[in-house]
Amino acid sequence: MDKAAADKRIKELREALRHHNYRYYILSQPEITDFEYDILMNELQALEKEFPAFSDVNSPSQRVGSDLNREFLQVAHKYPMLSLSNTYTEEEVLEFDARVRKLIGDDFEYVAELKYDGVAIGLSYENSSLVQAVTRGDGLRGDVVTDNVRTIRSIPLVLRGKDHPQSFEIRGEIFMSHEGFGRLNEQRQAAGEDVFANPRNATAGTLKLQNSSLVAKRPLDCFLYHMLGENLPFSSHFENLTAAREWGFKIPGYIRKFENIQDLFTYIRDWEERRKGLPFDIDGIVIKVNRYDRQEQLGFTAKSPRWAIAYKFKAEQAVSRLLSVDFQVGRTGAVTPVANLEPVQLAGTIVKRASLHNADQIKLLDIRLGDEVYVEKGGDIIPKIVGINLASRDGDSAAFVFIDSCPECGTQLVRTEGEAAHYCPNEYGCPPQIRGRIEHFISRKAMDIGTAEATIEQLFNVGLIQDAGDLYSLRKEDLLRLERFAEKSASNLIDSIDNSRDVPFERVLFALGIRYVGETVAKKLARHFSSVDRLRSADYEALVAADEVGERIAESIIQFFNDPKSRHLMDKLEFAGLQFSMDPEQAKTGNKLEGLTFVISGSFETHSRDELKQLIEANGGKNAGSISSRTDYLLGGEGIGPSKLKKVETLDIPIISEDEFLVMIRP
Ligand code: IVH
Repeated sequence: MDKAAADKRIKELREALRHHNYRYYILSQPEITDFEYDILMNELQALEKEFPAFSDVNSPSQRVGSDLNREFLQVAHKYPMLSLSNTYTEEEVLEFDARVRKLIGDDFEYVAELKYDGVAIGLSYENSSLVQAVTRGDGLRGDVVTDNVRTIRSIPLVLRGKDHPQSFEIRGEIFMSHEGFGRLNEQRQAAGEDVFANPRNATAGTLKLQNSSLVAKRPLDCFLYHMLGENLPFSSHFENLTAAREWGFKIPGYIRKFENIQDLFTYIRDWEERRKGLPFDIDGIVIKVNRYDRQEQLGFTAKSPRWAIAYKFKAEQAVSRLLSVDFQVGRTGAVTPVANLEPVQLAGTIVKRASLHNADQIKLLDIRLGDEVYVEKGGDIIPKIVGINLASRDGDSAAFVFIDSCPECGTQLVRTEGEAAHYCPNEYGCPPQIRGRIEHFISRKAMDIGTAEATIEQLFNVGLIQDAGDLYSLRKEDLLRLERFAEKSASNLIDSIDNSRDVPFERVLFALGIRYVGETVAKKLARHFSSVDRLRSADYEALVAADEVGERIAESIIQFFNDPKSRHLMDKLEFAGLQFSMDPEQAKTGNKLEGLTFVISGSFETHSRDELKQLIEANGGKNAGSISSRTDYLLGGEGIGPSKLKKVETLDIPIISEDEFLVMIRP
């Protein structure tokens, strides 16, 4: 094929694929099969490969993303991305209506639409093509996430038709449907990864991924709800959105115009019910004054427009029945009651379990087996029981009695004055506590040993590990005898355990799981004492002298080191060669860099990049992977990446050398 013919065919194919994308992703009315679509796509990709001169970032073939690991640049929004003020009752909506009428009279109409619960995005188009996608950020500046957004099939890269303004911005909400969210979490669970708490978190997490080819695999979608620009075709919101629908944007049909507030209330009440059947989350209704001249008359407050308001739905509730209560024992021995419910549909998922928190909560609700209960879903995965329907209670039900012995090991539970939770004190004999401690030990922020919880359970059940120290005497042959392991997975686990010997002291301290010693306290302790020896010989006064260490933490540390079992564990870990100390010079450093954020780039003469990172943290500073408006310094060595150079220039961030940096932290 010659160049001219290729150019023509590429254009035809792009046009056809755009059309089929629109039919599939926007109208949900495909005209061809997936197989036929793939044939067209393959032909396009082959031609683009053969004739790279015709490549185009907005070609339908570019939806697969790229593997490049980029960092987000931040830019100022051309129009600030404001939020909406919220109302929760019809009275508040009436007050809004009264304010509007007072300022502009009665000659106007409202537009009402759904309030999608996702992540806001601003899409800029020039000459019919998507040029930039920016997140909300702080409302004035946001992250440029164009490459990630290009992978979202329902966002047009090139617009349909001809009558669009040369340059405009359209804003909307990126979200994940319940179905897509469910599938994603299933895959993550199967791969031993953390699951997302809700579709909104999954969306936000996905948009922040640095690798757009991973984004391309996630089921993101986007509804548009706001147009901005100097030459929009119409002088009102509804009419412009209707036009934008023709250009290929996904503008849901639920949008309505109203002249009268009572009709609007009917719409709100209707959706309060109907939202339960929607395949995605909404958290309210947005009400906007339609005409732009009226909007201008009303203007803005500092944070939000006076011409629009959000009516937020109350958290979604479902009615179910309490069948039984399980008690779960965590790694600290805390016992959490979990309700088993009659399965019920709630906010897009089927709920079978709900948290009851602790004995006080149970008493407060006076919850009884067989009760009809109201379940609510907040931001968390596990819903909660917020009330019971006393009217439906059976006359002979008895008040619920909290268990007094551990469901796992039978030990008598204890409850400390002032604490809500019951604890099983059998720290070293109660299986979920032992397993929980090992799982905490290997977790990413601790020793970062890569294996699934199920593996730990298996190793524990067959008696290969009794505590975290035993991990270091595992041999590959031991693993190969187990069902779960093959040659490669066994080697991987052994390697990962080996590598953990280099994990820095502060993370080793965190990994021990001493009660109340979280990540931050572990860091402070590591810096203050600089070795296990000094920490273990510190008395109460010496302990509370350390930053962030109070009475409760000090007592817990003393108790840990006095316990023969933990002493035994520490011996095993020391013998395994874990980092039990850090360079006292490094530990001595103070908080000279507190409040400062650094980005390191290039190679250096006297320190490795990891050493520099540790120095920054040891001095109270922060390391960031990418340059943003929050970066204070670029610590630059030989060969700073060109993209980083360009960014620091744009954002006016000073570059300092290794020497200058060392001066900054000189004692
Ligand atoms: S209009 C100045 N319309 O809600 C008006 N926002 O609290 C701009 N949202 O940041 C917003 N659905 O992320 C508008 N139909 C809708 C919306 C909507 C969801 C989000 C959006 C915005 C937030 C405001």
